[in-house]
This record gives sequence, structure tokens and C-alpha cells, in this order.
Amino acid sequence: MCGIFAYIGKNNRAGDIAFNGLRRLEYRGYDSWGIAVLTKKGLVIKKKRGKISEAAPVLPASNTSVAHTRWATHGKVSDKNAHPLFSSQKDFCLVHNGIVENFAELKKNLVKTYKFSTQTDTEVIVKLIEEEQKKKQPSSEAIRKAFIKLQGRNTIIVLCNNGDLFAVRNGSPLVIGFNLKTKELFFSSDALSFAQLATQMHVVRNGQMASYFQQSGTLEFYDLVTKAKIPLAWEKMDFVSAEVSHQGFGHYMIKEINESPWVIRQLLKTKRSDFYKLTRQIRLAKNVYTIGAGTAGVAAAQIGFYLRKYAHRNTISLVAADADEYLPLMTKRDLVICPSQSGETADLLEFLEKAKKTGIKIVSLVNMPGSTLTRISNFRFMNQAGPEIAVMSTKVFTSQIAWGYLLAKTVQKQFFQGKKNLRKTADLLEKMLQDKRWLRKIKRIADLLSLKKSIFLLGKSENLQIVKEGMIKMIEGSYIHAQAIPAGDLKHYAITLMEKNTPVVCVIPANYLQSDVLNSVNEIKTRGALVIAITPVKHEAFDEYIKLPVVEETTAILNVLPLQLLAYYLALSLGHNVDKPRNIAKSVTVK
Ligand code: G6P
Repeated sequence: MCGIFAYIGKNNRAGDIAFNGLRRLEYRGYDSWGIAVLTKKGLVIKKKRGKISEAAPVLPASNTSVAHTRWATHGKVSDKNAHPLFSSQKDFCLVHNGIVENFAELKKNLVKTYKFSTQTDTEVIVKLIEEEQKKKQPSSEAIRKAFIKLQGRNTIIVLCNNGDLFAVRNGSPLVIGFNLKTKELFFSSDALSFAQLATQMHVVRNGQMASYFQQSGTLEFYDLVTKAKIPLAWEKMDFVSAEVSHQGFGHYMIKEINESPWVIRQLLKTKRSDFYKLTRQIRLAKNVYTIGAGTAGVAAAQIGFYLRKYAHRNTISLVAADADEYLPLMTKRDLVICPSQSGETADLLEFLEKAKKTGIKIVSLVNMPGSTLTRISNFRFMNQAGPEIAVMSTKVFTSQIAWGYLLAKTVQKQFFQGKKNLRKTADLLEKMLQDKRWLRKIKRIADLLSLKKSIFLLGKSENLQIVKEGMIKMIEGSYIHAQAIPAGDLKHYAITLMEKNTPVVCVIPANYLQSDVLNSVNEIKTRGALVIAITPVKHEAFDEYIKLPVVEETTAILNVLPLQLLAYYLALSLGHNVDKPRNIAKSVTVK
């Protein structure tokens, strides 16, 4: 995936606006960046390997720009492979988000006529457009016809040297922004990138194309195949907060971890009636599924846990990239609950496109306004957690599982008790985050872990998904191998890996004396492992002890905090880029 951006305005600010837009889109990929501006002498492109946040491009004055931040799929990370890509005549340039799945096949024909100068699949689109241009048709038609030949989830923006701009979506996200007062136009992968500049937005759907003609200043919008005109459906920009800054924290990740109590308090604004239709549907449903990708997949599994535990629903939790086998089992009497920060994750959307045909009802919990997932859902919920910028998701995960808990308590007819428990949880999280000694201890333990080759995590019941999330965070933050194991299952295989000083992070409930997590702790201790316990009560078997307060039903929501902090301090200790771990991106809009 990548981030794409375009701007049409005035006052010669196009370069700066594209630069700032790209900085906000950087979470989508940060291998390289590129900005093209239109000048009197034609299109000027600056592009480079590396992060936009570390660049200070000097661009000529311009009112029109197009920009890209890349997460490489085809073609190594290099200045050359960075977007925008010029056409052979430099009469247009193009940015692309997606994968052209049939690029090898298309290229086979095109190489007979054209010389390729990059290794990207994107260059195939450029050459296809050039091929169509030969047929002496308007640029909009050349682009439309070329785009139709692409397979896969792709979105492009093309800027021509006469100032006309074309954007086509089929898969990867595309939002158009407009400022009613200044008449500035924005095209972007997300609305957050222009949230403070536009007054309204329009979410482009798959199979749609927008054409802006500079001379007339008109924006046309139509169906890609039938060419039927579509009216723009402007929506008000609806952001809890569009502010994107560290606010003095140094890193987005730690700022966002510190917002955990706030995101739970945001959820406390929920009224029982907001859940009315959904709880009814959950009670009526034959099967309830929860599904997500990456961290959101773990959140989905934890929501599943709460629905089994408190709502007594036999919930099945799936990972989006590997759920197809359930498709033949799904019916219109079923319900699928989908947490997703962005609402644009390709694995999830592709699965849901297929699942929707079974008539299954889709419930979404999304943090980013204007997403595809929200639009295709029968029941829509927003996290209201504010922008999450760090690639390692923290506050949104906390918000997602807290929402799942409250939902399950509502089905159990204990909405107000659920809220009360969450209010207490938010207060406790706040106290933990203010406890300097506690934080110093976690930092010291992270320093210790940073020297290890492998980290194990043990959990059970409500903490099993939580240690899985801890595993994901530690892998992302440290690049050290980590593995989460159900505590009781350890003796069946992973115990063979336990030797002197093998680090094992154990998340243990308050009543651990009755818990077989303690049996596992004793078994690994006997083999010399270094036991790091996250639990309310101390025990002689622990080498390191991270104290947690006692709560009844929301321990999992508390327990994830020290794990997120361990990952943060690990990244710091190892000198990694905390907010942008290598090779991954926050929003994965390709398969
Ligand atoms: C990527 C991110 C994860 C995220 C997942 C799903 O893998 O690195 O943090 O959980 O995508 O994204 P979504 O936007 O659907 O939550």
C-alpha cells in the first residue's frame, strides 16, 4: 500500500500542501516519497528514497500538485521506482496505490513497443495510457480505458501538463475534499490528510472516476464502465480531532498509549439505545463471527471472547486473510463483527465482498471517518479515538476491546454495570500511566529483553488474546522473535525451548493460585527461564514483577497496557524508529 494525494488550489501553495498531506499519509508507507507540481514550464517532479518526514523538498511555486508515499510491492526501494512516474513525453505523471495483478501479462505486450525505466507494476499503467493516447481520444478516455485493463485493487491519480487531473478508484481508498470558501480541491487516500483544510468530503466508490478540467474548473464524476454521471455526495468533515502532533510526547506511540483512558471515556458516551438494534440482532443471529486483520484480528478475537463469556453467544473468531473456508457456511441469519482502525484493509474488504453475497449482516467498528467498511456495513460504529498515527496500534486496540466488552455486557442486560466497570478501568489506566516508578520498572525490563534473541509470552482465558497482542507489539517494536502461547499448552511443546534465562512474560490473573498459569510458571522456572510476571499479586517464582490493580471483568484491558509499554521501550532501547517499524505499514490496502 501507499498514500496518494493531489491538490488543486491557488496562492502557489501546492508544493507545501502536498508535502504536509504526504506527512499525514506517511503511515501508509515510508520507503520513498515523491511530489510533482505543475509550473508554466511543465511538470516538475522531486522524488527520493527515504521518509517524507526526513525530507525538506524545495519545489517551484505552483497551484497544482500530486504526491505519493510508497510501501514497495514491485521493484526495490529506489529513487527511480518512487512515484510519480512520468510518461515518455512528460505530458502527464501518475501516482498509484495498489498492485496490478496482471502486470506481467500486460508488460509482455508493452515491452515490444516501450522501454521501461523502472521495475514497478505502476509503469505498466503509464504505458497503457500512452498506448490509448495514440488512438487520438481525450485523456479522460485514454485513462479510463487503460484502467479498465487492470486487475487487482488499484487507485491512481494522473496529472496532465495542461492542468487536468484524473483520479480512478477500484479497491484502494480515495476521498475527495473541497473547501467551500477557498474552492480548493483535494484528492487523497484518507480524509485525515486534508482534514484541517477542507470543509466537506466525498468518498469515491470502487469503479468510479473523477475528472477535473482546468480550463473550465469543472469536476466530473462518473461510473468507470458505463460512463454514467454520478452526483457528488458531499459529507461534512466529521473528525473527533484532526490534530496530528506528538503534543510533547516525542513519539506518537507513547502519546497514543497515554490516550488509552481517554478513548475508554469516549466510549462511555455510548447510550444503551445505540446498541439496541445490534443486541437484538446478536440475539436473533444463528452464528456470530468476529473478524479482523493483524492487531484488529486480535481485537476481533477478544470481542469474540467477551461475547462468549458475557453474552453466551457461540462466537467464531477469524483472521481476515484466512477466512474463506467459512464462506459456504455463512447465511443471512448470521452476523459478522469487524473492528478495523482504517476500514480499508484489503484482506478484510475482499472477504466481506464475498461474504456479503451470502446475505450475512456486517457490523463495523471503525476509527477513520469515510471508510469503505463503514459504507458496506449494516450496523456502523465509530471508535471516536482520534487519529492514530503510530504504525503500532495501541489506543485503537484498547478502544476496540473495550467496545466489545460493553457490547457483550449489553447483550447480557448489564449495560450500566459494564459502563461502571469501564469507568473504573479508565481511572486505573490513568493512575498506572502516571506512576513514574512503575513506568521505570517496565523500561528496565524492556532494556533486559532488548538483549534477548527470543521472547515468549504466556496467557490464558481473557488474557490469551492479550498476550498475542503483546507478541505483535514486541515483534514490531523490537524485531526480536516473540511467541505467545496458551499457558496450559506450553508443556506440550514449547517447554523444549526453555533454558537458563529464556525470557517468558506471563500475564497472570489475580486468582492465580487456582490458575494453571502458575503451574506453567513453575515448570519453566524449574528449567531456568526468566519469569516476568504481569499480575496483581507477587510470588516467589517471579524474577520480575509488574504489578497490576485488581479488577473483576476488565483485567484484559488493563493488562495490555504494560505489554504496549514494553514494546515501546524495547523500540526505544534498540534505537528503532518507534512510530514507523521497518517493512510494515499502518493501513494495508493491498493483498
Ligand atoms: C496493519 C497494521 C495493524 C492493523 C492491521 C489492520 O497490519 O500494522 O496495526 O491492525 O493492518 O488494519 P485495520 O485498519 O483494519 O485495523
